[in-house]
Amino acid sequence: MSLALGLPSNLKSDYNEFPVDRLLDNSVTDFDLFAGIGDHFILYSGQGYKWERSELSGLLNQGYKNLWIRPEDVAKAASYEKMAKLPLLDKTLHPEDRLEQIIDIGATFTRYLYEGDITASIVYKAEELATHLVTCIQEDQGCVRGITGLANHDMYTYLHSIRVAAYATAIAHQMGVTDTESLKTIALGGIFHDVGKSSVPMTIINKSGPLLEAEWAVMKSHPMEGHKKMADSCLHHVSREIVLHHHERLNGSGYPDALQVHSLLPEVQMATLADVFDALTSSRSYQNKRNRFEALDFIKHRLLRTDISVDAYMALVACLVK
Ligand SMILES: [Fe+2]
Ligand SMILES: [Fe+2]
Repeated sequence: MSLALGLPSNLKSDYNEFPVDRLLDNSVTDFDLFAGIGDHFILYSGQGYKWERSELSGLLNQGYKNLWIRPEDVAKAASYEKMAKLPLLDKTLHPEDRLEQIIDIGATFTRYLYEGDITASIVYKAEELATHLVTCIQEDQGCVRGITGLANHDMYTYLHSIRVAAYATAIAHQMGVTDTESLKTIALGGIFHDVGKSSVPMTIINKSGPLLEAEWAVMKSHPMEGHKKMADSCLHHVSREIVLHHHERLNGSGYPDALQVHSLLPEVQMATLADVFDALTSSRSYQNKRNRFEALDFIKHRLLRTDISVDAYMALVACLVK
């Protein structure tokens, strides 16, 4: 380990402490970290640096209890710390129990996602969640049968995205998408699909009655807002398409672009079905909530071919009904 990685920088008083014990094994910091040498700093690690346990213990053993960050990076560091505090997954669990844990972690992740900007540490964590999700589905595609729509009112928004990711990944797997990277792009699309809702006031998102026209217009802006939010991230274009077009419908009646079926990627159609299915099975209004058979029946009789792809629907049925 060497500290001779940068030039002497500004005075310590301009910088903020960042304790080394808050850095986690297998995590990425998307901000510069400096080591204090006398009254000055040298750059220790640049943006996108990946940390490993051996280096962290090496730093502590050599007496570097604190590194330092620039004042303008405080928000990024706070976001990193939130991601680092998310519980670790117990990989020894059976796929169905593991999926339940992923959904729990995913809900907290989504809450953090709604609270701040998209940072590299957020995207890194989302990729980790997507990888876990894909592994579960690859091991047992039917594990999505264990997903429940139960959630208290406030948690619905946060649980929804990760559940959509799980359903969309299972549909894709059933339709023959088996390679891990392709499944990950779909899972990531699901995780981020409603990220634009963080730009919509919670009073509109949580409103129990019908939305006024002006409120509905704001709500319908979320795919575009989400797409803008993800513009600077390294998200795959299929995942971005899911963010932008998950409210399109096969007959062109959707938004924001009123696309017809031939312009919609199959992956987007899978995510659209996953989104509709989760909304039906976990409606926040108790009397509108359906069990999974009622939801499949509703889609079959009211939405198939006009809104929802038959192939995706058949795949979802195969995943859920055995
Ligand atoms: Fe949406
Ligand atoms: Fe959604």
